[in-house]
Amino acid sequence: MKTVTVENITNIVIDAMSDETSPRLREVLSGLITHMHDFAREVQLSHDEWLLGIDFLTRAAKMTDDKRNEFILISDILGMESLVDAISHDAQENETESAVLGPFFREGAPVLPAGTTIAQRGSKDGPSVLVRGRITDNKGEPVPDALIDVWETGPEGLYEQQDPNQPEMNLRGRFRSDVNGDYRIQAVRPVSYPIPYDGPSGDLLQLTGRHPYRPAHIHMVIEAEGYRKLVSQIYDSVDQYLESDSVFAVKGSLIVDFKPAPEELGVEFVVDHDVTLKDDAAAQVA
Ligand code: BEZ
Ligand code: FE
Repeated sequence: MKTVTVENITNIVIDAMSDETSPRLREVLSGLITHMHDFAREVQLSHDEWLLGIDFLTRAAKMTDDKRNEFILISDILGMESLVDAISHDAQENETESAVLGPFFREGAPVLPAGTTIAQRGSKDGPSVLVRGRITDNKGEPVPDALIDVWETGPEGLYEQQDPNQPEMNLRGRFRSDVNGDYRIQAVRPVSYPIPYDGPSGDLLQLTGRHPYRPAHIHMVIEAEGYRKLVSQIYDSVDQYLESDSVFAVKGSLIVDFKPAPEELGVEFVVDHDVTLKDDAAAQVA
């Protein structure tokens, strides 16, 4: 019988894993246990503080359902989703920069013809914008038939699943690039909005003197056969929260201008945004 001490407990817990543990699980869990224990030793965590942490997570669990994931919010305001994203997307690579997926993506958005609007309520959803560009590979060759999944909030800053006043799948759609790799999406000019802050993640923001806002953005996930899936966003260049995004997801190269559109386009604004995808083989080598 070995009595645990502040010094030896980490190895004892790691050694409790049996040989059946998969190598990757062993690696990840050993790292997690080591860092958690080092953290507790470093800050001399008290029992009351540990209980506070458990209560924080318990409240997060009680608030989480299929429309609201408090754990993703906690992870995001602590920079974890952006960090994991940055680990797998080296900024030096010749590929459009990625940005967090966030908790509001939904599978199964309607597939729409190029140029159609995702705003089911028309101008009630906000000022119209045409987002257009070319999808190419990292040699500049067009990528036809790529699927671009877009979603954004309405003018009140809520995604449709948060807002009983919006129709199902409002402000969501999937579009295909054409033979030249060109895509055209009609959306609305996005607004900055606060991430939900009536739970433990909001408490943490308040306790640390932070606001909950995200700068105005449109989400985009782009998939094409033979290419690495790209999870990204575009940001409005005039937004006041670009420098203080509550989830640390803004990248300079994803900031775009919402330019007043020429009359013949039939929309209020136009955004030009080309996208470069990395082919799967290149992604695997990296
Ligand atoms: C979003 O942009 O939808 C989002 C991202 C992270 C946390 C909350 C919302
Ligand atoms: Fe968002």
